[in-house]
Parts: sequence; structure tokens; C-alpha cells
Amino acid sequence: MLLLLLLLFKGLCCHGKNTAVASLLPCLYTFSTCHSPLSVPQDPAPHYLAAEEPLCFRLLHISSFANHSWAHNQGSAWLGELQTHGWDTILGTIRFLWPWSEGNFSKEELTHLQELFQLYFHGFTREVQAYASQFQFEYPFELQISAGCTMHAGDASGSFFNGAYQGLDFLSFQGSSWKPSPGAGSQAQNVCKVLNRYLDIKEIVQILLWHTCPRFLAGLIKAGKSELERQVKPEAWVSKGPSPGPGRLQLVCHVSGFHPKPVWVKWMRGEKEQAGTRRGDILPNADGTWYLRVTVDVVAREAAGLSCRVKHSSLGGHDIIIHWDGYSILLILICLAVIVTLVMLAVIGSVFIKHSSNWNVLSPHVRNPAFPNTQDPRSSGHQLCLAQESWIKNRFLKKWKTILTQLW
Ligand SMILES: *[C@@H]1O[C@H](CO)[C@@H](O)[C@H](O)[C@H]1NC(C)=O
Ligand SMILES: *[C@@H]1O[C@H](CO)[C@@H](O)[C@H](O)[C@H]1NC(C)=O
Repeated sequence: MLLLLLLLFKGLCCHGKNTAVASLLPCLYTFSTCHSPLSVPQDPAPHYLAAEEPLCFRLLHISSFANHSWAHNQGSAWLGELQTHGWDTILGTIRFLWPWSEGNFSKEELTHLQELFQLYFHGFTREVQAYASQFQFEYPFELQISAGCTMHAGDASGSFFNGAYQGLDFLSFQGSSWKPSPGAGSQAQNVCKVLNRYLDIKEIVQILLWHTCPRFLAGLIKAGKSELERQVKPEAWVSKGPSPGPGRLQLVCHVSGFHPKPVWVKWMRGEKEQAGTRRGDILPNADGTWYLRVTVDVVAREAAGLSCRVKHSSLGGHDIIIHWDGYSILLILICLAVIVTLVMLAVIGSVFIKHSSNWNVLSPHVRNPAFPNTQDPRSSGHQLCLAQESWIKNRFLKKWKTILTQLW
């Protein structure tokens, strides 16, 4: 099996020594944590500008072993935070998730890679099962592999291959050999000792990591440029969270729909950051944009004057600022204005209706036979109108009187 893999690999990559290798393949590609931009800087430095991040291409392989006869593999490839490829475990094919996911590799090269991965997934499962007891892997267990390369300002800047066992760092490929992770103990040492005997596997890994990956990544970045540089402005709004205790408020600032992922969000009092601002995880929206909530707990009477401030590369320096009390005061003012206007209209309207009915024109619902039961003229509404009318008459009369006395 491994021989086949080697032959395939040599078809893919220029190099060629014809050494056969015994069949051992555990941990060929595993997990990669390329300097993950998952944790965005918390400080108000201008780090939210995405362009400063090195771009990373990584393959993730998650392999779950329930018992000696049942295993499941999941494979995917990511360009930074964007998934570019999936692995169809049933068909054994690469799924290209974007029109540009092929980068600038030819169909032939991609077919070779696909065959290489078919052998890899198949061999990986078989070999892990075969060596599980020797390596003291206890069912059920999970292996994770992350492998790939990074590029910074157009140049290849590093490659990595990390393996995890049961969710903990286990081993990595460093330089030209397998190294146990610090803290992974004698079990990882044992696995690496065995793996390091297989020179051809190490050679394949080196070539894939240091030649194939950077070449593919460079082509992918060019092909996917417009998607990678897409700038989408965030929307932000504030709300009240669950009460953190008597007399206290939790204020929540929601920021959604932005791209790229790095974003800076803080609760502020004026120009000063409010202590105790807590930032959630940046979560994906279905359309490839991102969502973040940032909360702060405050004594209720100190909530006024706080604002949520958002900086993002798409905003071009025009930060979004949402005041906690801004909306409520505005709402109260609008409501007041509406109420005052309605009252005035009602007053003016009733005056006109009175005058009109004096001349026998109107009051449609009193006269309309379709509503025979509406509005008894002696109803309290009617009396209210009468009262208003007389009050207005009195006022007008008084005014006229004063004007008249002044004139004379
Ligand atoms: C192995 O695990 C699978 C999935 O949990 C289960 O369906 C199957 O019955 C198990 N087989 C054995 C032999 O325990
Ligand atoms: C793809 O693009 C990269 C970077 O521009 C280049 O090095 C490589 O030769 C191109 N072609 C192939 C087939 O890799």
C-alpha cells in the first residue's frame, strides 16, 4: 500500500529514489494550528486590519475510532478562516467549494493529489487500527491532524504538521523528523521513535509541506483574491442581557455581517474603555460573514453614558458608535412629539366638527345608517368635546377681550 503511495507521490513530485517501505502510516497528515487568527487581538491597536495576518492554508483531518472495527474520517481544507475544500468519504473525492478552489494546479495534478489522499485516508485508518495496541491508543479515541503552510507578504513563511490524540497535542513534524509534543509523555515518544524509522514517509511529508503546499497556496491566493479581499460592513445594535443581579444591568453589543473576521468592539465611556468588557467568540453567519457579541455588566444607574464602539477594516476609520441611552431618549422625544401632535389634532378637529355640525354638515358616524349604534351624542366623548369647546371659546374670548382693551 505504501509503495503505491510512494509511486503516486513520485508521479506528483519531481523527486525519485526507489525505496520500498514497510507499511506504516499512522500520523501522516495530522492537525495544523497555523498561528491561528482565531483569537483576534483584544487591544485597541490597529490589528483589526486583516492584511497584516499571514495567510495560512491547512488540511484538517479528524479521525474517530469507536472500536477496533469502526472508524470515521473527516477531511477539509481551509484558507485562513475560509473553507476551500472538503473530502467526500463515500466517493473518495475532493470537493472544491469555490470556483477558484483548484488554484492554478492542472487537472492532472489534482487527480494525483486526490489519489494520494484516497490512499492516505484508507491507509491511515488501517494502520492506526493495526498499531493501536502497540501505541497504547485506547478505544474510543480521536486523532486530529492539522498540516499546511503559511505565506506572508507573498512569500512562503512556514509549514507545519501537528497531531493530537484525544484533543491534546501529541506530536509534530519539525525540520525532518517527528517530535513528541511537550507533555505528551512516553506514549508520544514511542510513536515518534517508530515513525522516524520510515525515511520515505518523512521525505514525502517534507516535500508536501515545503514544496507542494506553498506552490498550491500561492496559486490559491491569486485565484481567490476577490473573495479574500471582500469587505462587508458590520451592522451593530445594543440590547439588554439577562440581569446579572439586583440593581445591575448586562448590556450587550451585537455586531454582525462583517467580513473579514478581525474586528475590534468595546464598551466605552467617552474615550475610555469600560472595565469588564467581555468578548464572545466570533461566530459564522450562513453567508460567510461573522457575528460577535460583547457584553458588560454595570450598576444600573451607571449604564447611561456608555456606548459600544466598533472598528473594522470595511469602515475605513469611521467607527460605528452606538449609545446605550441614545435610542431611548430619542424614542421618548419622538413619542412625546407624536402624542402632542395627536392631542393638538384632536383638539382642532373637535372644534371643526362642532362648527360643522352647527351648520348641519357632518359627523359621519352619527349620520351613517351603516353604524346605527355608534356614538350616542350624550356619550362621555361628546361631553369631553363640549367641555373642550367651551374652554377654547372662553380662552379665545378672553384673548379677544384683552386685545380689544389694549386697542382702545
Ligand atoms: C463499534 O462501534 C460502532 C459505532 O459506535 C458500533 O455501531 C458497533 O456495533 C461497534 N462494534 C463493535 C464490535 O463493538
Ligand atoms: C502557480 O502559481 C505559483 C505562484 O504564482 C507558481 O509558483 C506556480 O509555478 C504556478 N503553477 C503551478 C502549476 O504550480
